[in-house]
Amino acid sequence: MATRILVTGGTGYIGSHTTVELQQAGYEVVSIDNLSNSNIKVLDGIEAITGVRPLFEQVDCTDMQALKAVFEKYPGIKAIINFAASKAVGESVQKPLLYYRNNLVTLLNLLDLMPRYGVEGFVFSSSCTVYGQPDHLPVNEDTPIKPATSPYGNTKQICEEIINDAVHAEAPYKAVLLRYFNPIGAHPSALIGELPLGVPQNLIPFVTQTAAGIRPCLSVFGDDYNTPDGSCIRDYIHVVDLAKAHVAAVGRMLSGKSEKPVEVFNLGTGRGLSVLEVIDTFQKVTGVKLNYKIVGRREGDIEQVWADPTRANQVLGWKAQSTVEETLLSAWRWQQHLGETKE
Ligand code: WQD
Repeated sequence: MATRILVTGGTGYIGSHTTVELQQAGYEVVSIDNLSNSNIKVLDGIEAITGVRPLFEQVDCTDMQALKAVFEKYPGIKAIINFAASKAVGESVQKPLLYYRNNLVTLLNLLDLMPRYGVEGFVFSSSCTVYGQPDHLPVNEDTPIKPATSPYGNTKQICEEIINDAVHAEAPYKAVLLRYFNPIGAHPSALIGELPLGVPQNLIPFVTQTAAGIRPCLSVFGDDYNTPDGSCIRDYIHVVDLAKAHVAAVGRMLSGKSEKPVEVFNLGTGRGLSVLEVIDTFQKVTGVKLNYKIVGRREGDIEQVWADPTRANQVLGWKAQSTVEETLLSAWRWQQHLGETKE
């Protein structure tokens, strides 16, 4: 009998890629999503890639009764990977109560239900945003947490604290906090990928939509930072590499290898790349000329951050494999696939 894993936000960008990797590692996935920011057709892509259609329920995790019904319908869930959350930094400034309610109530409901249904492990989708602008680079897991600069970032910090407090109050489960750097790219099959609704907020979907002619021009938010070429630096990690880290985290928890009840891992490549370097690399690997212009800084942006992934490499036994060229090419192939299918 395959080990059953609940994936919340399972039709989202990272949730769908993680479902593929879990199924290919032999796990049975129960996927739930409220479809507020994703499309149920993603299940077709997952099935086409793995040959298995995940069990799926349309559920809002802030609805405790609906969530409880999932555990009743699918007994034996051994671990949860929680992706379900609102995640747009800018939107969180405009709608803070929506973000606090959605992201915190989702977590509280899941943590409440876990002991009642014998769930042994919890993987939390966190973010490098908890570090703010670090004083020293690269960032390791002991780098001090800084006051959040957005309600979105604050929900990640509060959720981490809630998990720590719950586990240290003798909750009968373990937890892993995965702090993502910048997830980009798409599955090499180009059958699943990022589906931003409306005007993309993040760099890579805006780059690929500009390359596809959907957007007339990419704006580079500032080239007057204290970096080699003046543009901001980030640690861009292939979403499939990120997904594989979740499989490693689940395996580690369920095999009893966890050294502490709550473990924290930075998931990055250890490589910083500037916005202008991303543009240059994208043009080189795709042969597509990007129309872009330099504009003013975006409020809330930090200047530069990239990971020290040593702990994840050595303890989790995971390392990002994809080159930035392969990663950007996968994003472009996905955009071309979207262009062929009428969404
Ligand atoms: C990257 C760089 C922009 C768009 C955010 C969240 C983080 C995670 C990923 C959820 C920055 C520049 C961007 C554009 C640009 N989200 N940029 N023109 O802000 O590093 O991280 O998204 O988990 O938590 O904070 O990602 O892709 O928005 O920006 O110049 O049209 O690209 O200024 O320097 P960011 P991003």
